[in-house]
Amino acid sequence: MSAPTILYALLFYAATAALVGGLAYRVWVYARTPQPLKIPIPPAPTTRRGVALRMLAEATLFRSLFRSNKWIWLFGWVFHAALLAVLARHLRYFTEPVWGWVALLQPFGVYAGFAMLAGLGGLWARRVMVDRVRYVSGPSDHLMLALLAAIAASGLAMKYLAHTDIVALKAFFLGLIAFDWQALPPDPVLLVHLGLVAALMIVFPASKLLHAPGVFFSPSLNQVDNARERRHAAGWSAHIVHVDRARGG
Ligand code: HEM
Repeated sequence: MSAPTILYALLFYAATAALVGGLAYRVWVYARTPQPLKIPIPPAPTTRRGVALRMLAEATLFRSLFRSNKWIWLFGWVFHAALLAVLARHLRYFTEPVWGWVALLQPFGVYAGFAMLAGLGGLWARRVMVDRVRYVSGPSDHLMLALLAAIAASGLAMKYLAHTDIVALKAFFLGLIAFDWQALPPDPVLLVHLGLVAALMIVFPASKLLHAPGVFFSPSLNQVDNARERRHAAGWSAHIVHVDRARGG
């Protein structure tokens, strides 16, 4: 077994553990954090079904971003939609046989790679060119954009410039899943692409990219606007309600 195969096999086990464990921990912390105040952004839904629909619009269309800034919305939405298509296209490396809808998606997935880069470029240009945004941008803001752009660029480089052995690559990942290691093609661009992906998986739970699961825990979006109908109790305030009720309040 070659050195890159062993190194990348261990790297991907570690990265998967970091991503899954780290995300589970973060979501656990989010879920346990008290929401002491009723603060849904108005106009807010008054039923749980309404909240579910609001969340759906937020997660798929980025509605509140659309309302606040059309340029960031455009680049942000294009980037995320393209990322979804690219990731769906990648499913063919991890399933045997390849699912029907994944096969159908293949031709569009390639364009999505370019759309992803275009979206990232727009978001990055904003951080450099808009004074107010440049001032509040830290190194990690740039680093995340650089990491995602480098992953997309190395992926496109494999597609158009330096092909790799996709059949052997798939055998490597199916082997990892089955704990039956197979050789990884030692192509430099592939090693760069995979190294960056592993880095992304490791930093994800400690990065700003946590906004993806985080949006679902945002009190301003996930609360029902029923403060007039139901007493809001959370964490420290729960016992106050109790006392209140005991007094007949
Ligand atoms: C272990 C996970 C991954 C593997 C094994 C992998 C492998 C590959 C391979 C072999 C290609 C070349 C496709 C071809 O020649 O037809 C590719 C392309 C690409 N990859 Fe990945 N990749 C992984 C994860 C990712 C992630 C997480 C992203 C984005 C954040 C990404 C973004 C891209 C893009 C944009 C392309 C070019 C467009 C395309 O072919 O779909 N990859 N990847």
